[in-house]
Amino acid sequence: MRVRDARPDDAAALAAIYRPYIEESVASFEDFAPDGFGVAARMNAAPRLPWLVAEDEAGCVVGYAYATRHRDRAADRWAVDCSVYLLPDRRGRGTGRLLYATLLPLLRDLGYWRAHAGIALPNPASMALHEAAGFRLVGVYQHVGYKFGSWHDVGWWQLSLAPAGVQGPPEEPGPWRAGNEG
Ligand SMILES: CC(C)(COP(=O)(O)OP(=O)(O)OC[C@H]1O[C@@H](n2cnc3c(N)ncnc32)[C@H](O)[C@@H]1OP(=O)(O)O)[C@@H](O)C(=O)NCCC(=O)NCCS
Repeated sequence: MRVRDARPDDAAALAAIYRPYIEESVASFEDFAPDGFGVAARMNAAPRLPWLVAEDEAGCVVGYAYATRHRDRAADRWAVDCSVYLLPDRRGRGTGRLLYATLLPLLRDLGYWRAHAGIALPNPASMALHEAAGFRLVGVYQHVGYKFGSWHDVGWWQLSLAPAGVQGPPEEPGPWRAGNEG
């Protein structure tokens, strides 16, 4: 298994991985699955943030992880949300950890100070992955999402990416530039 930067021609594979989590679960609160073009547009959205794929020995993309801005207001620009999705039959083999082991240092190097994950509860695998990656639960939004006929809570996990001992204002985060072939 290797982790590399996502390319535009991965978008259809990412859309296929994501689709069942929209159509069959509350892991995503979306209700219409984007196609490859839709995913490609998200990959290119500003500000540019990392999109990574996990690729197996046969060259098959089995999962992906990416970051988006946490919120859009100016003071939020050092904060991101992280997401990760794997093909259902590739879960539980360390691939989520592998993706985050690349994603999180990358975000730190780009100048982001806080990473978050909003997890529709319960989701033991996602909770365990984020705890293993150092995220800590900071709060639960009660009954915040309605999908498949019921309300769902979302737990928010947070990880500090801030450089130790830095005084004064943070530097502006930089754009992600894809190019790591793993
Ligand atoms: C959540 C997800 C990305 C985790 O990736 P993964 O490759 O399955 O997880 P890993 O094998 O890397 O395991 C990471 C940690 O979680 C634990 N874990 C994995 N699956 C678990 C499960 N079903 N129950 C409890 N713990 C679990 C592992 O033991 C490991 O912890 P450890 O390193 O302390 O032993 C993956 O399961 C997935 O795609 N799930 C469906 C989509 C989803 O829910 N995405 C997240 C939306 S918030």
